Amino acid sequence: MRILGFDSLPSTNTYAKEHIKNLLHNDIITADTQSDGRGRMRRLWLSPKGGLYFSVVLKPQGLAPRAFCSFTLAMALAVCKTLKNNGVEAYIKWPNDVLCGGKKLCGILSEGVFDESGAFLGLVIGAGLNVSQENLVCDKPAVTLKALGFNFERALLLKEICTLFEGYCNDIYASGFKALQEEFKRHIPALGQVVSLRTAKGFFTGTARDISAEGFLLLQTQEGAVEEFSVGDMDF
Ligand code: BTN
Repeated sequence: MRILGFDSLPSTNTYAKEHIKNLLHNDIITADTQSDGRGRMRRLWLSPKGGLYFSVVLKPQGLAPRAFCSFTLAMALAVCKTLKNNGVEAYIKWPNDVLCGGKKLCGILSEGVFDESGAFLGLVIGAGLNVSQENLVCDKPAVTLKALGFNFERALLLKEICTLFEGYCNDIYASGFKALQEEFKRHIPALGQVVSLRTAKGFFTGTARDISAEGFLLLQTQEGAVEEFSVGDMDF
């Protein structure tokens, strides 16, 4: 695990994507601030000092693109477990947010990287964790670890998260997401609840029944059918 630390970058994900050819599998890019931090669905991710902003570069061999979302879930699990191991009552909002008491602590943005000919170069898994920023600005209810009463050293958090993440990735390489499935499900309080899901295909409401061996959400709609989703914006 190699950590490349910067005072400021436009975005750690963008840096990792632009330099992926010269970066190694498992390299980590961090920045104390980002001037153009990006969230999912083209949202802005404001990144003042005090947050933990990082991206991990993965160059997995021979995996089907369908398996790529497993790494996003693995990062959510690594962040959630690290926080729980340190006393924070964190949980995962499938697929890739970590919350505490209904407020967002961490968001994850995963991106595939391809060259001009379309050949796959790797994945970039970026995470933004609210540690001790003042005046947190977010489009959803959000909170910092500091506001919850926790004083974390960002470098130690990063090490702990990335060590867990590397272990989870090795499990995925060996036997797919199903190696993490049961543990992942233990951190999803939405299971069994009525949820709504915004996706590119539309808006769905139903009961969150399960997380599949591939990490997909199985949603039982009001009509009774069970539909499978690989991504979406959930509310419950
Ligand atoms: C989201 O919840 O919408 C995802 C937010 C992801 C933010 C992180 S911060 C580090 C990395 N660099 C970025 O520009 N975005 C991700």
